Amino acid sequence: MLTRDQIRALVNKHGHDILNHPHMRIEQCCYQHGAVTTFAHSIRVACLAVWFADRLHLWHRVDLRSLIRAALLHDYFLYDWHDWDDGVHRLHGFTHGRAALINALQDFRLNRIERDSIANHMFPMTPTPPRFIEGYLVTMADKISATRETFSMERFAKPARAELVRSSIQSKDTRA
Ligand SMILES: [Fe+2]
Ligand SMILES: [Fe+2]
Repeated sequence: MLTRDQIRALVNKHGHDILNHPHMRIEQCCYQHGAVTTFAHSIRVACLAVWFADRLHLWHRVDLRSLIRAALLHDYFLYDWHDWDDGVHRLHGFTHGRAALINALQDFRLNRIERDSIANHMFPMTPTPPRFIEGYLVTMADKISATRETFSMERFAKPARAELVRSSIQSKDTRA
C-alpha cells in the first residue's frame, strides 16, 4: 500500500510540469473552498484519487499518469469564482469543467482520459457522466476534498488575498 509520502512523490513526478506552469500562480492566489486555494485543492484531489485507486486495488484498470494529470487540472478555470464579475461566473458550478478543459488544452497535451475526466468532473451536477474510471476517481476525490475544505475550522482564519499573492511571489522568487 502506498504511503502518503509515496503518493505525494508520484503526484510530483507525473505532474511537475503542471505544478510549475506560470498559470498555476493564478490558482495559488484564488481560494477554492474555505481557506484552501485552488492550487492546494487540486493537489489534495490528486493525492486522494491516487489513494482511492491504491486502496481499491484498481491499478490493473487505472492509468496513474492520466489520473494525476486530470486531477491536477480539473479546476484549471483560472479565475476566482468568489469575485463579482457582473454575473459572468454565475453558473460556475455547471460551466467550470469545460472552462478548465479549454484552458488546459492551451497549455498541455492531454489524452482522452484526461480530457473527459476534467470536462465531466462535476457529475452528477452536470448531466454527462465520466467515461473512464479515472474520471470517477477524480469526481469522488473532488467531492470529498471539497466537503472537508468547506467545513474545516481553518476557514475562519484564512489569510487575505493580498497575503496569498505575496507568498506566491515569494515562492516564485525562491524557486528562481
Ligand atoms: Fe470543480
Ligand atoms: Fe475541485
